[in-house]
Amino acid sequence: MIRLAVLGSGSGSNCQSIFNAINEGRLDAEVVIVLSDNPDAYILERARRHGVSAEVMDCGGYKNKFPLEVQQAVAEKLQALRVDMVCLAGFMRLVKEPLLAAFPNRILNIHPALLPAFPGVEAWKQALEAGAKQAGCTVHYVDAGMDTGEILMQAYVPVMPGDTPESLHARIQVQEHILYPAAILSALARL
Ligand code: GAR
Repeated sequence: MIRLAVLGSGSGSNCQSIFNAINEGRLDAEVVIVLSDNPDAYILERARRHGVSAEVMDCGGYKNKFPLEVQQAVAEKLQALRVDMVCLAGFMRLVKEPLLAAFPNRILNIHPALLPAFPGVEAWKQALEAGAKQAGCTVHYVDAGMDTGEILMQAYVPVMPGDTPESLHARIQVQEHILYPAAILSALARL
């Protein structure tokens, strides 16, 4: 059985979509651990409710930094758990060499924009402010850059007149929840 790890910083709705895909037989895998840099993140609660072990990564009080020694410890933990693929799901820190080297071509991220447009934070807001007619989401392999790795799959989402950042993000998230499990399946087929 394919073994997944999920890293997230927030609500974990994308992690939930992975759980759902597994439960419904659309994704033949199991999530062996969920890790968060945020002790209050709802993703941890979702994992525990689902019977998946959930742990906090202590990033030493840094707001954005993902300290290399923490990445090294996470890499070792995930290797010890024989994880096949790492799925970033709303994880808001940059992954660097210790993790990338431990899981080459085995780390995926979901981003709420049509990359390469609008990398970085609150991408849906960037799209709206730029007057984009089309928004969307992207699943890509993770490299050392910010949202720069090879694109695996994308879904388009229309921008509607009167959209607010919240309404657009909600519409994007509906597509994210369909796209991410499908993209994971496709990445697994390439292993
Ligand atoms: C999602 O929209 C995801 O695409 C985005 O954060 C949200 C997390 O939602 N990720 C990024 O912006 C990463 N740069 P979730 O916690 O409900 O899955």
